[in-house]
Amino acid sequence: MEQTPAAATAAETGATPKLRELFREDWLVGAAVNRDTIVSHADLLDVHFNSVTPENEMKFASLHPAENVYAFDDADAIVRFARERGMNVRGHTLVWHNQTPDWVFSEDGDPDRPADRDTLLARMKAHIDTVVRRYRGDVYAWDVVNEAVADEGPDVLRDTKWLRIAGEAYIAKAFEYAHEADPDALLFYNDYNECQPAKREKIYGLVRSLLERGVPVHGIGMQAHWNLFTPAPNDIRAAIERYASLGVQVQITEMDVSVYGHEDRRTDLREPTGEMLRLQEERYRQFFAVFREYRDVISGVTFWGVADDRTWLDHFPVRSRKDWPLLFDTRHRPKAAFRAVAELARPKP
Ligand code: GLA
Repeated sequence: MEQTPAAATAAETGATPKLRELFREDWLVGAAVNRDTIVSHADLLDVHFNSVTPENEMKFASLHPAENVYAFDDADAIVRFARERGMNVRGHTLVWHNQTPDWVFSEDGDPDRPADRDTLLARMKAHIDTVVRRYRGDVYAWDVVNEAVADEGPDVLRDTKWLRIAGEAYIAKAFEYAHEADPDALLFYNDYNECQPAKREKIYGLVRSLLERGVPVHGIGMQAHWNLFTPAPNDIRAAIERYASLGVQVQITEMDVSVYGHEDRRTDLREPTGEMLRLQEERYRQFFAVFREYRDVISGVTFWGVADDRTWLDHFPVRSRKDWPLLFDTRHRPKAAFRAVAELARPKP
């Protein structure tokens, strides 16, 4: 008979060191969760994690599907879960080009008529005010703006409806509105491909110019959707150094380490190969060794998921292809990568 994940875990986590204790002096250990995984993965969340990030439940489309309609149930359930356990919550995310409903950008719900700048900014302010005030005291840090920087080409900012309608001031305004709504919350700019040198410089330049104008930005979130081959540890080091040189905190906000390279479109594997797991262990060891070098500036390391049975990478970039990117396997048992990370947390005497 197939063992359930919970049964496997109960028997096996006993002797396992706890991530949140191993890194207690260094940073918060987080996981992205949803309404299902706060139940199905509570075994691991309770033991290893002291921070959670709602995976989709605090995105614009989830919380604010229509102009005067807010839907807080799912986000509230996650906040309650965290509160009951004394866990921290990272709010994700207030302003993003994805998962934002069309009504936000259009006049009277007509997709052919874009909203004007004042209307869009007023909607953004109303959204931020309502959401940030609701979770004051529960959410200690917000990803205020997500992925506003362009991946390729000379443009610094990504071409989005926010930018086209409101101009680049939308970014500063988002931070200002969030700060007004909760002066105690830590406010982050969050992005991916964050170690790639050209994009790193754009992110650095954007945040530097915000800080120079007195905009309340307290941290840079490095999503860390990485894989067995990229990025190189030196690029990670360079990115952390560059971001930290601005005097802001750095958090690893969405970490996973895919077993596939970018170009690998294989779909036939039912299990990760031994070689993949060996490389993944080595990669996690390298990554955490770099994080430890920067423990003074890194205040959180959050994984995008809890265990390999539930990961967004099963659907991205290839649909219905299993991936195994996390520290716990599909039965919630610690992987070799987990042991490498745990070992690093305890430097040899
Ligand atoms: C991005 C977003 C996250 C999530 C992940 C993939 O990195 O910031 O909210 O959507 O992609 O799931």
